[in-house]
Amino acid sequence: EKTVGIIGPMEVEIDILRSHMDVEETVEKGKLTYYEGELNGQNIVLVQSGIGKVNATVAAQTLVSEFGVDALINSGVAGGIHPDLGLGDIVISTETVHHDMDETAKGFKPGQIPGMDPRFFKADQKLIDLAMKGTKDLPDYVDVYNARIATGDQFIASEKKTEWIYDTFNAYVVEMEGAAVGQVAYLNEIPYVVIRSASDDAGEEAASIQENFVEKAAENSSHVIEEILKGMSEKN
Ligand code: ADE
Repeated sequence: EKTVGIIGPMEVEIDILRSHMDVEETVEKGKLTYYEGELNGQNIVLVQSGIGKVNATVAAQTLVSEFGVDALINSGVAGGIHPDLGLGDIVISTETVHHDMDETAKGFKPGQIPGMDPRFFKADQKLIDLAMKGTKDLPDYVDVYNARIATGDQFIASEKKTEWIYDTFNAYVVEMEGAAVGQVAYLNEIPYVVIRSASDDAGEEAASIQENFVEKAAENSSHVIEEILKGMSEKN
């Protein structure tokens, strides 16, 4: 039977899933805590990675190497950068890209890691399909997009930066872990997807907007994760 590794950066991004799952074992590895168990009939290992790409990488690779997960899912909130994107809206990744990977001085495109083939880490189509199906019961105000997600070790709170990321990568949201999870999935040759709900607009007021909306956004993202797991277990 397959096991899915689920990574959320902040407590608010894993709390709902942990409270709904049946925790069979709690495993400490270094400074991170991994919750093994079942949610909606699907075997999962859930971890709060902490914020940023290195934290996400450690969590993702540990899920693969130590827990033997067959797929990786990254759930959480994000800054909306597409002009149409409203607070709470869901983005299901088509691909992820590191917006702060920059060897353009050597002629590489923004986001391109030299010596590595993909500039965009492609999410798994089956996981995307399950996620899209899992968006039916979201609150009415929530719109759903299947689009590119840009990742960097920066909380974006600038219209100028937002515009650059949108123009350069055509990403719909910006966050701080997705492409790290995508890259770990790529290197380990396993499927992955990122689900994010917009907690702010990544503009000048992003921090205070996020404070007010982060819980609603985390709820929306967690809801889609639970629906993916339901869809997976129905297929088993
Ligand atoms: N996650 C949520 N909002 C964000 C932002 N504005 N920048 C980066 N990551 C985020």
